[in-house]
Amino acid sequence: MIDSDNAGARNVFELRDVEYSYEKTLALTNVALDIRQGEKVAILGANGTGKSTLLKLLDALCFPTKGTITAFGQPLTEHLLREQAYAHAFRRRVGLVFQDPDVQLFSPTVWDELAFGPLQLGLPRAEILERIHGVMALMGIEKLKDRPPYRLSGGEKKKVALASVLVVEPDVLLLDEPTASLDPRSQTAFIDMLLEMNERGTTLVAATHDLDILEDIADRACVIGDDHSIAAIASPGNILSDRQFLLATNLIHEHPHRHVDRRHVHPHWHRPHHDHEH
Ligand SMILES: Nc1ncnc2c1ncn2[C@@H]1O[C@H](COP(=O)(O)OP(=O)(O)OP(=O)(O)O)[C@@H](O)[C@H]1O
Ligand SMILES: [Mg+2]
Repeated sequence: MIDSDNAGARNVFELRDVEYSYEKTLALTNVALDIRQGEKVAILGANGTGKSTLLKLLDALCFPTKGTITAFGQPLTEHLLREQAYAHAFRRRVGLVFQDPDVQLFSPTVWDELAFGPLQLGLPRAEILERIHGVMALMGIEKLKDRPPYRLSGGEKKKVALASVLVVEPDVLLLDEPTASLDPRSQTAFIDMLLEMNERGTTLVAATHDLDILEDIADRACVIGDDHSIAAIASPGNILSDRQFLLATNLIHEHPHRHVDRRHVHPHWHRPHHDHEH
C-alpha cells in the first residue's frame, strides 16, 4: 500500500536517469527530476521532445526502459502496479488528463463519464452526486450532461476530460496541454480553479506550449530539448527572460512579419493580442 503518512516523503516523484523508448524511437533520456509535494511544475519543450511521455511515466501508464521512478517514497514498477490494492491507491492519488480528450472519454454520456471515477473509488452516492454537480458547475458543462462525449466540440471534450479527472480529487494532477482548445474565458476560469486546488495542497504537473500562462501555473519549469533530455530546470521568470535559450529550444521562433512598408524578423510567441513593438 501507499503510505500517505510517510513524513519523510516530501517528494511525490523522484526520477533518476530515466530513459524511455517506444520500440526503436527514443522519447526521453537521462531525466533526473524531483517533484515536490504541493508544487506546480511546467513541462516545456518543442513537439516530439517527450512531454507527454514524461506524464505517462508519472501516471504509470508506461515504465522506464532504463533508470527508476519513485512515487510517494516507493519504487514505481510494473510489478507493483499489478497489485490491485497498490494500483487502486495510486490511481486515487494521481490523475492524468490526456492531451487528446478522445483517448480519455469512453462513456455513453457526459454524466456517466464523470461518475465513472467516483464509482470506482466506491464513494457514497450522495458524495458522488455532490462531486459531479460541483465539477460540472466549475467547468460550466451542466448543459452537456446527457450528451455523448464523442459528439461534443473539441473544447467541450477537453472540459469534460478535465472534469472527469478533477472529480476524483487526486493529490497529484498531471495535465497534458490543459488549456489547448479552451476559449479565453474558460482558460482563465480553469487556471483560477487549478490555483485554488494547488493552495489546498494539490501538486500540479502540466505540459504546455503556452508561455503566456507559464508564470501562473508553475513555480518551476522543466524544459526538454530536442535530444529528449532535460535542457533546463529553472523558475518561469528565468526561462522566459533567456531569449537565446527560448529560441534554441524552439519555445519561441523568429519569423518574418509583413508590415505596410517593410518586412522584418523578430522573435515571437503567440499571445491572444499581438503586443510586440513595431
Ligand atoms: N505510441 C508511440 N509509438 C512510437 N513513438 C511514439 C509514440 N508516442 C510518441 N512517440 C515518439 O516519442 C517522442 C516523444 O513523443 P511525445 O508524445 O512524448 O512528445 P511531446 O513532447 O508530448 O510532443 P507534442 O508537443 O507534439 O505533444 C516523439 O518522437 C514521438 O514521435
Ligand atoms: Mg504531447
